[in-house]
Amino acid sequence: MATFTKIRDDETPSITINPDHKIAKINDNIYGGFTEHMGRCIYGGIYDPGNPLSDENGFRKDVIEAFKELNVPVVRYPGGNFVATYHWLDGVGPKEQRPKRPELAWLGVESNQFGTDEFLKWCEVVGTEPYFCLNFGTGTLDEALGWLEYCNSDLDTHYANLRRKNGREKPYNVKYWALGNECWGPWQVEQFTKEDYAKRAYQWAKAMKLLDPSIILVLCGETGFSSWDYYVLKECVKFDVHGLGGDRTKSLIDMHSIHLYTADKKHIVNATAPRAAERAIQMTSALIDLARIENNVPPTVPRQTICFDEWNVWDPVRAPGEQGAEEKYTLSDALAVAVFLNAFIRQAAVMGMANIAQSLNVISPLLTTPSSLVKQTTFYPLLLYSRYMRGHTLALNVSCPEYEGPTNPRWIRGVIETPFLDCSATISEGKEGGKGGGWVSLAVVNVHESKDFSVSINGVGNGVGGAKEGDVEVETYTVTGASVDVVNTEKEERVGIEEGRWDGRGEFVFRRHSLTVLRWKA
Ligand code: AHR
Repeated sequence: MATFTKIRDDETPSITINPDHKIAKINDNIYGGFTEHMGRCIYGGIYDPGNPLSDENGFRKDVIEAFKELNVPVVRYPGGNFVATYHWLDGVGPKEQRPKRPELAWLGVESNQFGTDEFLKWCEVVGTEPYFCLNFGTGTLDEALGWLEYCNSDLDTHYANLRRKNGREKPYNVKYWALGNECWGPWQVEQFTKEDYAKRAYQWAKAMKLLDPSIILVLCGETGFSSWDYYVLKECVKFDVHGLGGDRTKSLIDMHSIHLYTADKKHIVNATAPRAAERAIQMTSALIDLARIENNVPPTVPRQTICFDEWNVWDPVRAPGEQGAEEKYTLSDALAVAVFLNAFIRQAAVMGMANIAQSLNVISPLLTTPSSLVKQTTFYPLLLYSRYMRGHTLALNVSCPEYEGPTNPRWIRGVIETPFLDCSATISEGKEGGKGGGWVSLAVVNVHESKDFSVSINGVGNGVGGAKEGDVEVETYTVTGASVDVVNTEKEERVGIEEGRWDGRGEFVFRRHSLTVLRWKA
């Protein structure tokens, strides 16, 4: 959480931070990823048998290393829109017997050479948790239950035995399951009305939890600011003893998913667009509470959290999905990514998960070539946040001038502020950043294209928090570039991380179009 005070252009901006003022625990799952059978994300991406860079499973080793570097805690799979015609049984068993199918989301052919067992093995190699999305398009409840049994059951039953026959004795224990993807979208195979969706989702949730009460179920929301979200939450977030064994500490629905893609040709509009994400989170959180209040959900049932399971910068006209959606990200986009991440940190109290869409090749910070892995501009904010912005969110007050021009979406103006300095702060608890607890990290995105801001920071060695001036040594990490339009290519990396030191004295200059993370021991 942060409060913002708007000041004039000729006043000195300030940031006030108090390391004792913890707001909420940050769920590590906000640094989640997403891999869809789309474009080159799976085939020619994480799975590339025959490539010298791949291991004996056909998994690209450089990609695995990058996921490890980003410390991605959870990965959503297999879609996205793809899942609406996906039959998981096509993708298990001997590879030569797996059917090729027409693929209707991105209009390709699905070979099914990579499926459930390959993905779950890949997750184990990477050290990440799987998050599966169910087929609410052409899929049936029977199939969904079969998939859950295949993955999680240790009984002597058909699908659990099929898993054993396919070479995996012990259950995978897949914890996270989504009840469909963007079921409201006119682009879906089998688009739903909110009434039809809510009815189906509730019944599927009950059956899924009867089979495995330990799973976490995610309801399919829209943006968080739509009547779909209100309706499906109202219908599905209720207390029901059926499927829960009468346990008043559990609910059928554990999370509500929302999606947001932003983009604009103009830098400042592009970089401030993710401010919409923060309002989306706040509104979703209020709708969750409203459903709980209207449905008399006992307070013993944990509050449902938000699963922001698709977010990123994406212009589908510039990078169409049917053509693989390989966006080339600029420095401006990297700053927009940091503004998204700041929102997740500030709103940590209600965030259960967030998944950048997507993690490889398709609208991704990482691009494979046959012989290399390109780290796009957006890789670097992700890396800095994943490394340092964990633990607890700290309260902040930010005083700075505000961008006052047009926004995209337009409704941002008049609904939420767009400060030139977009900030969040955390305090580490354990090994975040490899340095033990008590490290304060302050992330500041200066979205101004041409102005540096010299900022007085209260709380770093000058009073607040007990420190004296010059007491601290501050590590600095900056992501910037020659202009907001620069991109990274296979030949040249124009945006990376610049490391430095600051003694905490006087004002700190946040350079134009930059992200800076300052770190010090509280
Ligand atoms: O991430 C790309 C696509 O965007 C996903 O498949 C879909 O859910 C969304 O519309």
